[in-house]
Amino acid sequence: MSLLPRVIVLATGGTIAGTSSSAASSTRYQAGTVPIDALLDAVPVLKQVARIEAEQVAQVDSKDMSFALWATLAARVLYWSAQPDVAGIVVTHGTDTLEETAMLLHLACDTARVPVVLTAAMRPATSLSADGALNLLDAVRVARHPESMGKGVLVVLNQVIHAGRDAVKAHTSAVNAFVSPLAGPLGIVQDELVRYLRAPVALPGAPWAVPAAWPAVEIVASYAGPGRVMVDALVAAGVRGLVVAAAGNGSIHETLVAALADAARAGVAVLRSSRTGQGHVTLCRHPDPQAGLFASAGDLNPYKARVVLAMALARDPALASDPSGLQRLFAEI
Ligand code: SIN
Repeated sequence: MSLLPRVIVLATGGTIAGTSSSAASSTRYQAGTVPIDALLDAVPVLKQVARIEAEQVAQVDSKDMSFALWATLAARVLYWSAQPDVAGIVVTHGTDTLEETAMLLHLACDTARVPVVLTAAMRPATSLSADGALNLLDAVRVARHPESMGKGVLVVLNQVIHAGRDAVKAHTSAVNAFVSPLAGPLGIVQDELVRYLRAPVALPGAPWAVPAAWPAVEIVASYAGPGRVMVDALVAAGVRGLVVAAAGNGSIHETLVAALADAARAGVAVLRSSRTGQGHVTLCRHPDPQAGLFASAGDLNPYKARVVLAMALARDPALASDPSGLQRLFAEI
């Protein structure tokens, strides 16, 4: 009987499982083609690090992530987290929407006993200097590490450990594409060394339920000369929430403010986030008094904020017409 810790790998596809006809190509390839067992076999040293069991939960390009797959993935993570002899869980994922899945799992998982680590790759498995094998090894090292307990869902790529709440993809192709914009990385992993540099900013209290039915929440952007047609169409279609990718510190064009204020008065939750990619949207900045109807997403980007808003509205639909309640909730995320 091996004394190595038991680590579960849940595979969903992505570039880490991608293949190209040319080893020289790192951008022309098909994501989600190599089975997880083959990816694990390609890293023999893993057998010295953990007793690994793998499940092929899906095999998708993460641009096509769906609510149904989120439900399946979260259920598998929660199942394995409850098994007494599991030391850690690794989820392999495409990089394109990893930050959204990380936000979902951040809210849905209790990592006090079993760490949950997402990993991915920017280059397909067939590429020269493919990054997936090392990222997978590092993710397993982090998942089995006792100090990874209770830190929330983690993201490991390029030898950096990020908090799942904070991690975002900030480059189209570089292997160091993931950053934690405001807070910085949580730690590093270098060979056997797993070193945490700071505590997580915020951890959810009790895990949130993954919605059985997701309320419709969409993202609209503020830019020069916008019309109100998109907001009006979304409201007419029955949307429950709108996240604004606003300019700067949450500034929204006056035409859009008028449309969004009408939406808020009609019972649609409206959230101000920033399209800048970094920084906190403060409450006091917006010059239009109608913007008081819109809560701030804090430092969450529009895509992460949308996940939180949809999950929050599924828990409590009354939040849609309660900007103060929504504001309190986002202040704690
Ligand atoms: C994907 O997100 O599935 C494709 C892109 C990637 O993993 O880097």
